[in-house]
Amino acid sequence: MKNILVVVGSGNRNGNTDTLVESFIKGATESGHHVKKVNLNGHIQGCRGCGACQKNGHHCIIQDQMQDIYELFEAVDTLVLASPLYFWSISARLKSFINRLYAISTNDEYPQKDTFLFMTSGSKGFYAFEQAVSFYRFFIRALGWHDKGMVLAGGCDKEEGNSIIDEHYLKEAYFMGCHLK
Ligand SMILES: Cc1cc2nc3c(=O)[nH]c(=O)nc-3n(C[C@H](O)[C@H](O)[C@H](O)COP(=O)(O)O)c2cc1C
Repeated sequence: MKNILVVVGSGNRNGNTDTLVESFIKGATESGHHVKKVNLNGHIQGCRGCGACQKNGHHCIIQDQMQDIYELFEAVDTLVLASPLYFWSISARLKSFINRLYAISTNDEYPQKDTFLFMTSGSKGFYAFEQAVSFYRFFIRALGWHDKGMVLAGGCDKEEGNSIIDEHYLKEAYFMGCHLK
């Protein structure tokens, strides 16, 4: 049984990205895994680079939604990063979450995690995700983490606040959740 934290870097609850991860969560939950989801819709400030965390027992001095997430993060073995594609990259919310993890590092070493990447975009075609995937691959390797899969759902758009995402991506995400090891 895996303990999973899903971090959603979209401001749109029930938007495309949220809908995609919900399919994964359904599959994972049905298969007996324990899943907690956090929507980064409180204000996650950027890392100030003050270095206080490295001197005070790994506590970030910024008091915001991230304080609740540190505890959840420590408790899981699997981290799901989810984001809409914003200007060919991950959202600023998700990037701030990642930057703020610096607080828990010791000599640039991080607790081990398995990871997934779930993204949605307006454009069709894999090339749209190239920069985001390149960043994801690079940073998880640097942190010593292990990629367990990605779903890159292109061709999403939105009409009157409704999520529009192709059914086959939802099935892919559900299948990943079902077959999580
Ligand atoms: C600020 C902003 C930037 C975006 N940049 C891109 C982009 O570079 N490429 C793209 O294909 N779609 C882009 N999109 C579209 C979103 O990635 C897409 O609609 C996504 O599915 C929205 O997810 P959500 O419903 O979770 O918010 C952008 C949307 C916004 C609001």
